[in-house]
Amino acid sequence: MRRGFFLSFEGLDGSGKTTQIRKLTAQLESRGHKVTVVRQPGGTRIGDRIRQILLDSRTDGLAPLAELGLMFSDRAQAIAEVILPALGAGQIVICDRYTDSTEAYQGGGRQLGSKVILQLHELMCGGLQPDLTILLMPDFAKSLHRARRRNERNARAGNDEGRFEQEAEDFYRRVYEKYREIALRDTGRVAVIEGDDGIEDVHHQILRIVEDRLR
Ligand code: TYD
Repeated sequence: MRRGFFLSFEGLDGSGKTTQIRKLTAQLESRGHKVTVVRQPGGTRIGDRIRQILLDSRTDGLAPLAELGLMFSDRAQAIAEVILPALGAGQIVICDRYTDSTEAYQGGGRQLGSKVILQLHELMCGGLQPDLTILLMPDFAKSLHRARRRNERNARAGNDEGRFEQEAEDFYRRVYEKYREIALRDTGRVAVIEGDDGIEDVHHQILRIVEDRLR
């Protein structure tokens, strides 16, 4: 089966992933690439239902391991329904979050550790890893501030997806540190973009990295 290119975006809530994915997708499509974008959790009909349970701030009492299981169930569905078929058709697949998020948030944030996540990744995702991961690491405090502001806006609009954004700063510190650990471990796959050079600048940095890998 012909294989396309698998790219994931990672970073804290409010790190600017979604904006950058939108810009990169437009750029790649204008050059004639076929691009499929999938967000996690969500991105499939079943995944969107799982997302609702996971992100609704009215969901309470969800055990960390149950949360972990739902993240992987969502991912297994996206792999079967969207990711593998698109890669098989030779497309570029862009995932807004993938297993690194689970390692950072559930492994780091919820303190389940990396080992169980990497084991489940083998089992549930057949070990499928992105060819390239762009990890956005703007200033910690700025990301958090942006995420909280966005969440308040969404909640006012009746779209309550703030279960994670309610977490304390300690939780996000652990997520941030786990991302750093992943980047140091997986230097061949993970490209880290530090700081906040503005949307256009970051976009051009990303474009250079992606073009280089696609060649
Ligand atoms: P989302 O609204 O997609 O946030 P963002 O736009 O910042 O990516 O919400 C996804 C939330 O789910 C985010 O807080 C991170 C969390 N998450 C995990 O905890 N584990 C995971 O495996 C994934 C994919 C997401």
